[in-house]
Amino acid sequence: MVKKIIIDTDPGIDDATAISLALRSPELEVIGLTSVFGNAKGEVTAQNALRLVELEGHDSVPVARGSDVPLIIPLEALGTMVHGEDGMGNTNPPPPKGKLLDAHAAEFIIQMIRSNPGKVTLVPIGPLTNIALALKLDPGIVGLVDEVVLMGGTLSCPGNISPVAEANIYHDPHAADLVLRAGWPLVMVGLDVTQEVFMTRAYLDEIYQADNPATNLMRKILPIYQKFHDGFFGLGGDIHTHDPSAIVYLLAPHLFHTQSVAVFVETEGRCMGQTVADWHHQWGDRPEVKVCMNVQANEVLALIKERLVK
Ligand code: RIB
Ligand code: CA
Repeated sequence: MVKKIIIDTDPGIDDATAISLALRSPELEVIGLTSVFGNAKGEVTAQNALRLVELEGHDSVPVARGSDVPLIIPLEALGTMVHGEDGMGNTNPPPPKGKLLDAHAAEFIIQMIRSNPGKVTLVPIGPLTNIALALKLDPGIVGLVDEVVLMGGTLSCPGNISPVAEANIYHDPHAADLVLRAGWPLVMVGLDVTQEVFMTRAYLDEIYQADNPATNLMRKILPIYQKFHDGFFGLGGDIHTHDPSAIVYLLAPHLFHTQSVAVFVETEGRCMGQTVADWHHQWGDRPEVKVCMNVQANEVLALIKERLVK
């Protein structure tokens, strides 16, 4: 059964690979992209989302622009030092041909869920502001989605934007806490697994041999992302596989080991954005979610390569 998905995204270098992967996977029907601030400004990520559906001829996939700022906290540092001011590695890509939908991302999400009850999977791979807005506008969507599979959070390893916080959660902690306590079927693909999936320079060089639009874009935009990973983690040109790992979960969930636990988000102070699990199942004030704690990294990488080099 082909899975209808909406990718909520802040493209964004790894978002670009994730979107190409999803569009190249016949198991998935991408019924829309919704864009959000995060790796770059909201107006930038929206245009990048349009560029990405056009990259390999998926122009008919609608793109709805969403929030430019978090629900409550002020808009802080964007991820431009990792993804470039243009969200595309400062490669200054040509403008997209297409136009954005004339609807806010949250309205689009609600409309698609209500017109396909029980059939839509939400795939947030950026800050969760649009998803939280959709929840606030129409709480009834909780019972109408197939699943929410998000890239974000960290339970067993340090943060990547603060000592304890993962970037997507950190950028809008109030939104993340709303989404994680909503009670819908939710899978959290966090740093616990995405930092175990390394795209090495050798792996990337193999992918670049495909010489297709998706892999050529990766070759162009990845250097800044490799530089960040080397400077911050000392990876010498290798990179973590964040957003594409969430797409692989949709394709092959058996490659991930999950546990059920209630997760809340710290929304203020020095630990803002920290995702905290109630592993004793004693203090959770909310339904449990599935968190990915282990991954068969080699198989994830093999699947990504198989789809990108086709
Ligand atoms: O922490 C990694 C996440 O933050 C990824 O979604 C990346 O694109 C950035 O948004
Ligand atoms: Ca992202």
